[in-house]
Amino acid sequence: MSMTSSAIRNAFLDYFASKGHQIVPSASLIPGNDATLLFTNAGMVPFKDVFLGQDPRSYSRATSAQRCVRAGGKHNDLENVGYTARHHTFFEMLGNFSFGDYFKQEAIVYAWEFLTKELCLPAEKLLVTVYASDDEAFDIWTKQIGVAPEKVIRIGDNKGAPYASDNFWAMGDTGPCGPCTEVFYDHGEHIWGGPPGSPEEDGDRFIEIWNIVFMQFNRHADGRMEPLPKPSVDTGMGLERIAAILQGVHSNYEIDTFQALIAAAAEVTGAKDLSNKSLRVIADHIRSCAFLMVDGVQPSNEGRGYVLRRIIRRAVRHGHQLGAVGAFFHKLVPALVVQMGEAYPELAAKQAVIEKLLRIEEEQFGKTLQRGLSMLQEALQQLDGKILPGDLVFKLYDTYGFPVDLTNDVAREQGFTVDQAGFDAEMAQQRQRAQQASQFGMDYNAQLSSKQVTDFTGYQHVHGNAKVQEILRDGKACQQLNDGEEALVILNQTPFYAESGGQIGDTGSLTLADGSVFRVTDTIKLGKAHAHKGKLKGQLMVGAEVQAQIDEARRQAIRQNHSATHLVHAALRAVLGEHVTQKGSLVGPDRFRFDFSHYEAISATQLQAVEVLVNQHIQANHPVQTELMNLEAAKAAGAMALFGEKYDDDVRVLTMSPFSVELCGGTHVNSTGDIGLFKIVSEGGIAAGVRRIEAMTGMQALSWLHQLEQQAQGVATAVKGDLFSIAERVQQSLERSRQLEKDLDQLKQKLASQAGSSLLEQVQLIAGSKVLITELPQVEAKALRTMLDELKNKLGSGVLLLATVNEGKISLIAGVTQDLTAKVHAGKLVGWAAEQLGGKGGGRPDMAQAGGINTDALPSVLQQAAALVEQQLSA
Ligand code: SER
Repeated sequence: MSMTSSAIRNAFLDYFASKGHQIVPSASLIPGNDATLLFTNAGMVPFKDVFLGQDPRSYSRATSAQRCVRAGGKHNDLENVGYTARHHTFFEMLGNFSFGDYFKQEAIVYAWEFLTKELCLPAEKLLVTVYASDDEAFDIWTKQIGVAPEKVIRIGDNKGAPYASDNFWAMGDTGPCGPCTEVFYDHGEHIWGGPPGSPEEDGDRFIEIWNIVFMQFNRHADGRMEPLPKPSVDTGMGLERIAAILQGVHSNYEIDTFQALIAAAAEVTGAKDLSNKSLRVIADHIRSCAFLMVDGVQPSNEGRGYVLRRIIRRAVRHGHQLGAVGAFFHKLVPALVVQMGEAYPELAAKQAVIEKLLRIEEEQFGKTLQRGLSMLQEALQQLDGKILPGDLVFKLYDTYGFPVDLTNDVAREQGFTVDQAGFDAEMAQQRQRAQQASQFGMDYNAQLSSKQVTDFTGYQHVHGNAKVQEILRDGKACQQLNDGEEALVILNQTPFYAESGGQIGDTGSLTLADGSVFRVTDTIKLGKAHAHKGKLKGQLMVGAEVQAQIDEARRQAIRQNHSATHLVHAALRAVLGEHVTQKGSLVGPDRFRFDFSHYEAISATQLQAVEVLVNQHIQANHPVQTELMNLEAAKAAGAMALFGEKYDDDVRVLTMSPFSVELCGGTHVNSTGDIGLFKIVSEGGIAAGVRRIEAMTGMQALSWLHQLEQQAQGVATAVKGDLFSIAERVQQSLERSRQLEKDLDQLKQKLASQAGSSLLEQVQLIAGSKVLITELPQVEAKALRTMLDELKNKLGSGVLLLATVNEGKISLIAGVTQDLTAKVHAGKLVGWAAEQLGGKGGGRPDMAQAGGINTDALPSVLQQAAALVEQQLSA
């Protein structure tokens, strides 16, 4: 049965929906609120907190087609892409999940039924593996399903450590994991390879198509395997692999989606041979690049953006190898939209922005290549030997983004070899630095957690009664808190907003009937609990009743700032373009900052336009409306979701006229007019492609303007103008001082030349020639040259030796007119004098300068010089 990729995707979701599974749309490639993972690398990632029992859902069975990226991070396939039949940076994972609902029995039955009945795969082509000690799974396969025992292979800890096994799956070094059973497909004898567990297992004959994980443990950093609250199921089937089987081809790159992308890649690069590996690389990479951009990643020099940049550059390099000229990669986006736009409407929606950003990145890379090439050429020309040092190759790569393979090519072409060992050593150091600096790979369990659920009442209220549910002191639960102790206090309900979505936590107090007060300095979120951070005066027990009161004025200022961030976001998109996306924000009471993607500097005019637009929407006094809706409905209504944020099924949509519609759980003003005033106080780049605006609202903005006015008034008074003429006044004053400096210079020159004239009186006639040898009172060393030239002119013919002392240093200059240079050599004369004075110098026969330090000897040296000149003139 031949099926298109789309048909397979739909068949899978429909099948599991018919078995009571909720169809959950693909989540973002950026794991929500998770610093432990670079990208969503498996279908289970969006559900990991559900497995851990920390994220209750309305369903216990789910199914999804999840977009995944395996590049950088724990599961990294980047370097393999293009060289094997089935590695991708981007792929789709079909999965069904049970959260404490069914376990091994149904999971296996469903998988078998779907493969053999729905997809009609012949049973004899299928092979199964189980974790060595998993007799239960073995029995289900052999006794219930009826697979021959010799086709159910037990795989132990074949990777050398406990649980390090092809049949034990883990999301990362910590977090949910468990034994698994895998289904393999036999592509036939004509392809080399052996069954799993055999020495030939790495061949391409037997391909794993479905992994069924029995999620049972939460692995901790110390290796402890904590049983999950309920045994669960996580399965994953790569769409591309199953499509290859159903379309009767061996390589994933021969399936419908890839054939179309490869044809498009051939067209834009001009490649003729459709089997060229570089075309596969490009077809693969356009998928990961475009989808990473759909999810808000933009090329940069760190973290996720850096991985994206590397993938783009790898694709561009392969394109150039195929003979592509100029930017070509972005031209593949339309073909991708044709293939995948229907299943992923978000891709189609962002097509124009993705094309534009890819083009800009390609063009920038083009410039990098040019610059790198000329640096490399220069370096090669200056080399002594024939080996290009590793640190240079590394510098080209690391600082200038110049690809190493290209350095190798160029060096080789010109008969040089590259010091690979040196380069590797630099790389190893770099990797270590990156690891140390990386936030990813953190221990998922080291994050403080709580299983309590707090009801947030703060959208309507600023105070209210509540009951203490949990107290965490030094990260551990305790029953009672004593006077002076600090802790996190969790209530059943609270008006305190817990820091999230960029808005900082509320401060305030929790007061008990006996007068004890817990002063709250911050509020943070632990799972679904709001944890009040602070210090106690008095006594506090779990179960106590408290009166919770937030600092109202502070909250009001935060509300104004938070609502303004949404207006800024919309205004930036209106003024700069749709590619602008929020990269982060920090909303406090006194100011807020807003980070966003944009690839070039912003002009003062654009910044002003943003300010005007935001203030216009403030003055329009739109009502600020919030509405709870289903996430998909919200997205369909055009609500913008934030990058890297994790949303529940039901989300809060914040609307301020059609101008701004965004998902947001923060606290806001009632109508935009409450913001009062909006003022940007700074703007600048903070990383490649990311800029930051800092701004203020309401009275804070006014007080900032007052301070500015005061400063300006100070300047106005000093320049004797008024506020609106200061620029002109300061300009005038600067021009005046420039003029004065010029006048001063001229006067100095004049003085020097007058001094020169009076010197003429000291000229002696020696052996028939005019000679002037003298010490001048403090003349700037650089003025000596002018004086000498003028004196030479005035004398017409003669010999001069002038000296002057500045701050203990002697400057000497000698001049001889052309007619006398045969007798007296200025360079030699000054050199001789300098030597006597503890210095060095020399120069041309007609003019030479030198220095010395021996000031005491100067008068006698000048006398001796006169004698020397006399000798030479008379000779
Ligand atoms: N999480 C497992 C995998 O990625 C099954 O979905 O293979």
